[in-house]
Amino acid sequence: LGCGIVGGGVAELLLRDRTRIEALTGVRYNLKGIAVRSVDKRRDIHDVPHDLFTSNAGALVADPDVDLVIECIGGRDAAGELVERALESRKHVVSANKELLATDGPRLFALAASGGVTLQYEAAVAAAIPIVRVLAESLAGDEVREVAGILNGTTNFILSSMHDGKSYAEALAQAQELGFAESDPTNDVDGIDSSHKLAILCQLAFRSAVTSPRIARRGITNVSVADIERAQRLNCAVKLLGVARYDNGELSAEIAPVFVPELHPFARAQGAENCVRVVGRSSGPLTFYGQGAGRFPSASAVIGDIVAAMRTIAGGRTTARHHHAKLHAAGVIKPAYDAFEKVRSEGSSYPVWREPTASATDDRPAVNA
Ligand SMILES: NC(=O)c1ccc[n+]([C@@H]2O[C@H](COP(=O)([O-])OP(=O)(O)OC[C@H]3O[C@@H](n4cnc5c(N)ncnc54)[C@H](OP(=O)(O)O)[C@@H]3O)[C@@H](O)[C@H]2O)c1
Repeated sequence: LGCGIVGGGVAELLLRDRTRIEALTGVRYNLKGIAVRSVDKRRDIHDVPHDLFTSNAGALVADPDVDLVIECIGGRDAAGELVERALESRKHVVSANKELLATDGPRLFALAASGGVTLQYEAAVAAAIPIVRVLAESLAGDEVREVAGILNGTTNFILSSMHDGKSYAEALAQAQELGFAESDPTNDVDGIDSSHKLAILCQLAFRSAVTSPRIARRGITNVSVADIERAQRLNCAVKLLGVARYDNGELSAEIAPVFVPELHPFARAQGAENCVRVVGRSSGPLTFYGQGAGRFPSASAVIGDIVAAMRTIAGGRTTARHHHAKLHAAGVIKPAYDAFEKVRSEGSSYPVWREPTASATDDRPAVNA
């Protein structure tokens, strides 16, 4: 479903890499169809037959021959309805849709669980960085205390350009020229996109039904050249961070510009890169960098989910996987930082990054930047 930036890459790879994917999964597959809004639109994709395209997404989802639905439309309305219909008809679903999972995720996971099918979404957070599977599987036995990071490439690009001497307006215009920012950049610069990703990370890390509207959020539109200079005088970089901590039974989460010490791993993410850092009680800190957007980085993550779903189908397993583990109610979500006024009175424009306290990582020593 959808053949834009992400869906176009997925269709190309599914057709180009068929032999390898079939060997990996033991499943022979047919790409039955590709639903789009406009069948005759010119598309920058290669070797995808035109007769696969349809404007009737509903019929494609309802096709009894379809076992797996791949949703790359985006948004909540049409995509949400189609995903819901697919899960109700007990079809596995792979989705790249952060907004849908960050708002309706808990309900959709329950629906998938009741039908005994999987709903996977690696591309929805930080595209190519495999953080969803890491939290859901590799760290499933650990207690995650903190998950934080640079979750939006557009804002990181803008802030990096401001550190190179540009004003906010100049940096935004450059990002738009290079295709890193949309003509309406609100979703990115106001932190909305980051809040969707942080909500999904909270669902995974803390098994808590956090949704994005409940996360305190501050974007980068007010970051000035003076703020950047102030940060530089303190040997810091301004980064838009999503931070979620679970400490003493309390969850705090926030999206905000933060002064990050230059030597900290977050400060190393340049341009449109993303960086996600997880602190597990036993694992200690783990840091992941990579391309958080773009056709093939996103398609790489979607194809990984498709391989996993095909293996589930091949194994005849209909029992729940990790995505079906019940989320508990989110309760109160505190902001992660003190009031910004207090921060300002202490001399910096934004909060200065602090590592989790020793209590948050149990008896392990605090990690200093
Ligand atoms: N772009 C990225 O780098 C990236 C990275 C990770 C995750 N994601 C997520 O991936 C999803 C897709 O993003 P994108 O950037 O690929 O979007 P996009 O380029 O705008 O593509 C959207 C596609 O959906 C189709 N579409 C829209 N409404 C439809 C409907 N009602 N029925 C059938 N098809 C419909 C469009 O058809 P037409 O082509 O005919 O208009 C288009 O092919 C979003 O959830 C996004 O958040 C994107």
